[in-house]
Amino acid sequence: MKKSIKFFGKLLLIVVVLILFAGLYIQLRGIPSYKTEKIEFVVQSTPESIARGEKLAKVLCANCHFNEETGQLTGKFMRDAPEEFGKIYSANITKDETHGIGTWTDSEIVYLLRTGIKRDGKYAPPYMAKLPTMADDDINAIVSFLRSDHSYVRANATPSIPVEPSFLTKVLSNTVFKPFPFPEQKIPMPDENNPIELGKYLAHNLDCFSCHSADFKTNDFLEPEKSPGYFGGGNELLNMEGQVIHSSNLTPDKETGIGKWSKEKFRNALKSGIVEGEIALRYPMVPYVNLTDNEIDAIYTYLQSLPAIENKVPR
Ligand code: HEC
Ligand code: HEC
Repeated sequence: MKKSIKFFGKLLLIVVVLILFAGLYIQLRGIPSYKTEKIEFVVQSTPESIARGEKLAKVLCANCHFNEETGQLTGKFMRDAPEEFGKIYSANITKDETHGIGTWTDSEIVYLLRTGIKRDGKYAPPYMAKLPTMADDDINAIVSFLRSDHSYVRANATPSIPVEPSFLTKVLSNTVFKPFPFPEQKIPMPDENNPIELGKYLAHNLDCFSCHSADFKTNDFLEPEKSPGYFGGGNELLNMEGQVIHSSNLTPDKETGIGKWSKEKFRNALKSGIVEGEIALRYPMVPYVNLTDNEIDAIYTYLQSLPAIENKVPR
């Protein structure tokens, strides 16, 4: 009896020491680095690709990178990032050669957007968006915009503030969060005349699913449909005041989702943030003024085609 207690005592001690060492290792190692593969990408800029890129960047990148004071994509403190991830600052992505991404090659930008690996090999955790399933033409459009003369990206020498990732972010980045493989094949644009296909593409690539599924930590970016609680809402975010706000259930459940919403109501909510005279969207959900009715209707049609999830989200 005594012997076995001693044995288990020793075993416990060994386990505790191992855990402490693992913790120390992760703390010192921080966010991991990866080897970057060589890819060849040269942006093809046309007035159309820049316009399309502007729209995508306003919907996607500006949420995080737009700074109200500079009126440009110079980065800022990200209030809505859950505190458990640390103190998150988005970077200056203007064309400035020292403080922005003016010296990044097109390939380096695309590689980061696809895989999540920065040009120095460091991994960018999920508080930076990744676009592993976006069509090649749309990726080209975003880079065209970043390289354009638009006021948002004109060189601005505001220094980026380094992110202060939490211990949890470091642990997750060393275990469950992994960079995405660079796509082996070209990804085509969705068929604009097929609402389900277009809606799914937008719901995935405009990042709706990542906020509106159960939890950022369990989202599947390569196959978004496999994310737990896909579009069932309840993901915890923070509002301007730092209070918890939950994302809404967007599945067609009649009581807890948007099953009773008409196309018009959805369109109004998304474009103006207002439904029937009441505020329908609160920060960090912002209106998508740049989407066309065709695009919003397609998202609606796609969402209504999903299996209903009964999940009452506190509001
Ligand atoms: C959810 C918020 C978020 C969104 C959306 C987002 N970013 Fe970021 N981005 C960040 C954060 C935070 C960092 C800093 C990451 C780090 O240092 O690990 C970053 C870093 C970057 C960097 C690296 C800059 C550097 O100097 O290291 C580039 C380039 C970039 N983002 C481009 C984009 C583009 C283009 C888009 C739109 C397609 C975009 N980001 C969308 C939050 C975001
Ligand atoms: C940054 C996270 C985030 C992103 C990205 C996001 N949402 Fe939301 N959304 C929220 C939150 C949080 C709420 C709840 C706001 C509230 O309670 O006032 C919400 C609310 C909504 C509502 C209102 C639902 C209701 O029941 O009142 C709709 C509709 C909606 N989002 C659609 C979308 C669509 C479509 C997209 C993609 C184009 C999207 N959202 C992208 C966070 C997000």
